[in-house]
Amino acid sequence: MAKLTVRDLNVNGKRVLLRVDYNVPLEEQGGQMVITDATRIVETLPTLRLLIQQGGRLVLAAHLGRPKGKREPSMSLRPVAARLAELLGCNVNFADDCIGEAVEKMAAALPPGGVILLENTRYYNEEEANDPAFSENLARLADIYVNDAFGAAHRAHASTEGVARVVTKRGGQCAAGLLMERELKFLGDELDNPARPFVVILGGAKVSDKIKVIDRLLEKADSILIGGAMAYTFKLAQGFKIGQSLVEKDKTDVALAALAKAKERNVQFLLPTDNTVVTPVKTDKLNKKGRPVIEFTNPRNLAENNIPDNEEGVDIGPATAAKFAEVLRGAKTILWNGPMGIFEDKRFATGTNAVAQAVVEATQQNGAKSIIGGGDSVKALNQAKLGDKVTFMSTGGGASLEFLEGRELPGVAALNNK
Ligand code: 3PG
Repeated sequence: MAKLTVRDLNVNGKRVLLRVDYNVPLEEQGGQMVITDATRIVETLPTLRLLIQQGGRLVLAAHLGRPKGKREPSMSLRPVAARLAELLGCNVNFADDCIGEAVEKMAAALPPGGVILLENTRYYNEEEANDPAFSENLARLADIYVNDAFGAAHRAHASTEGVARVVTKRGGQCAAGLLMERELKFLGDELDNPARPFVVILGGAKVSDKIKVIDRLLEKADSILIGGAMAYTFKLAQGFKIGQSLVEKDKTDVALAALAKAKERNVQFLLPTDNTVVTPVKTDKLNKKGRPVIEFTNPRNLAENNIPDNEEGVDIGPATAAKFAEVLRGAKTILWNGPMGIFEDKRFATGTNAVAQAVVEATQQNGAKSIIGGGDSVKALNQAKLGDKVTFMSTGGGASLEFLEGRELPGVAALNNK
């Protein structure tokens, strides 16, 4: 059922508690935490601008990282307030707590169009526990609740779910922001009735992470293209040698079931037929987890299905990339989730970049709708400077996956229906 959105509200003079997903990547530089990708902030600007124009008094709530109930300084939202002020071109007050009397006073004193960003909600354990008293405290800051945090909507936490229940119970409105609305449109409505052919590209490390999505998409897609390490579980299931490649040996039955379903439903299901392989070598260096760092040596393209015992697949090969590009050329709707290889290492980004290029060409030249399901595929597109050439890039990681699995997201379910 369609949810109430910010367009349906009259916020003039009212305090709007706006949940945003400002869980942005930060890096320590010269003793300061610096935002390395502000996409999630930028994507909320239309909602903020609309609410500001309409005279709403905005109290923004968000989490950052997983501080587990502690005031972890490196996870403070203070640098986010500064960046938001720059991007919005107006003053953003920062409250160094998210509940309590001082914060309530700040919210009460906010003029129409004023903005406060609250400190990290996860500095309290009660946030993740969806504690009713904590939700009540958050609700004391709100006449109206708006959720624009699609990326956190799969969490039933106090600021994403509990507070909406409190506001609704006392007769207040709970609505979706414009970003939330767009996410639900592209990952939901557009894929429910896709223009055909509908081509899905799935990658990433594990079959187990994506199997529910695969299963659901097998009922909708015309073609599914598989890359990334999860392809090796399929290849092993088919009886090929996969050498040292990452694999989930206990998931070959799941892979076989997906292959059988694809056949039964007449879905074109393509796996890599060639690979970029390396010889992994253990070094004396230890990584952060205290395990030996593995160096990838002797990268080469291997034009066959079987990978020798001492080698590891790290990317799809050129023939596979060309085949995937050919299928994408005919697509009218594309959904992409997960890279084709270890794209963070430039040597093994070729397959992912080729797919990115093919998705962009299908979008720009053939009018295909291309929807990027968040996480690493978004990173890969941005790394290739192609992010603005697709139809839609989700800001969700786990949330997009759960939504694509067909699950109801608690943060969405808690909003009022139209
Ligand atoms: C994300 O980055 O995917 C969201 O902000 C949710 O974060 P979480 O996985 O720590 O709940």
